[in-house]
Amino acid sequence: MNFKRNIIVTGGAGFIGSHVVRLFVRKYPDYRIINVDKLTYAGNLANLADIEACPNYLFVKADIVDFDRMLALMQEYSVDGVIHLAAESHVDRSIKDPFTFARTNVMGTLSLLQAAKVHWESSPAKYEDKLFYHISTDEVYGALELTRPEGDADGRGPYGEEFFVETTKYNPHSPYSASKASSDHFVRAFHDTYGMPTIVTNCSNNYGPYQFPEKLIPLFINNIRHRRPLPVYGRGENVRDWLYVEDHARAIDTIFHRGKVAETYNIGGFNEWKNIDIVKVLIRTVDRLLGNPEGASLDLITYVTDRAGHDMRYAIDSRKLQRELGWEPSLQFEEGIEKTVRWYLDNQSWLDNITSGAYENYYNDMYANR
Ligand code: NAD
Ligand code: DAU
Repeated sequence: MNFKRNIIVTGGAGFIGSHVVRLFVRKYPDYRIINVDKLTYAGNLANLADIEACPNYLFVKADIVDFDRMLALMQEYSVDGVIHLAAESHVDRSIKDPFTFARTNVMGTLSLLQAAKVHWESSPAKYEDKLFYHISTDEVYGALELTRPEGDADGRGPYGEEFFVETTKYNPHSPYSASKASSDHFVRAFHDTYGMPTIVTNCSNNYGPYQFPEKLIPLFINNIRHRRPLPVYGRGENVRDWLYVEDHARAIDTIFHRGKVAETYNIGGFNEWKNIDIVKVLIRTVDRLLGNPEGASLDLITYVTDRAGHDMRYAIDSRKLQRELGWEPSLQFEEGIEKTVRWYLDNQSWLDNITSGAYENYYNDMYANR
């Protein structure tokens, strides 16, 4: 079959990547979607079980750091678009093992860029109708202050006057965000130096189905269900801006098709929450859905040593994306959280499959000394 487009999505077996792959495979049957994933601890093909038999979907197990393999794949499938999500993504892991983050996030991105460059420069149309789309994070901008610690009258965000805009100077603090910042610079350098058509987007915290249960929301839902402690870092005052993962995938679709080359777009939900308030929402929702008395799980909250270098507040200003491409989040947080909690409760076997394996060792390792 002749496909209209041949797109590599890296990291498609991970959390956000699986939603992007699913959206593209279903919405564009005339595109071939090639999911390139190394299947690290975070990669899980069960995330894509519902689309794996689609004729326009292909999975390739490969390491993005492997330049020869990336080039061979681009040539074999006449790739004209790359949506690059593969990364080491967990801040706590980056504090323990920064080398792995530099390897995948920096060298992996560089290897993909160079493979795309060699492939596209040797094709007759060169860079015409090609795109290298790099998915990045709001964490590269650093941290904002909590200048309105009480939030609005109803105790909601915004928790400060400042927001991250596309021109905010990079100021990463964790090895994770430093590695993502470095990869962003490489992507822009390939545009500026070689004329490669690139786009970078920086998104806020995602939540939703298929998120690896080392991240706050799935970890805490699972722990509430099993009556395990909920390790809240520091005083739980840190603020994150949360976006439902399918809204991020929709934004990626919009930007991939209509975004302007060489531009940066911030993606976020204008939906700031203090960690401790999120934890209380999760407790309320899980207890209600499990039929527990209200507040039954509040005693699980356990304040633990803060994350080293813990960024205080992230808040994305996504008005450029709204204004120029008309994207906006479709779900209110309450609706998104309800859907998310229900999904994890209904898919306990998905969680068990992970928590009974390698992750259990990681969990013990990460939390043993708290
Ligand atoms: P994830 O950890 O759930 O998934 C990462 C995927 O990348 C996994 O499937 C893993 O197997 C794969 N991978 C890792 N190293 C690889 C390598 N060397 N070669 C090939 N594949 C490899 O991550 P996520 O939360 O889905 O994040 C995806 C991307 O979005 C990342 O680039 C992350 O920085 C960015 N991002 C995440 C969030 C968030 O809230 N999760 C927010 C903004 C941006
Ligand atoms: O902002 C985007 C980023 O969001 C992405 O780039 C990252 O890939 C993604 O992991 C996420 O980073 P965070 O560090 O914000 O997410 P995490 O779920 O690890 O933590 C959310 C907040 O909750 C953070 O302030 C730390 C806190 N936390 C987290 C865990 C895992 C706790 O208090 N206890 C916990 O056990």
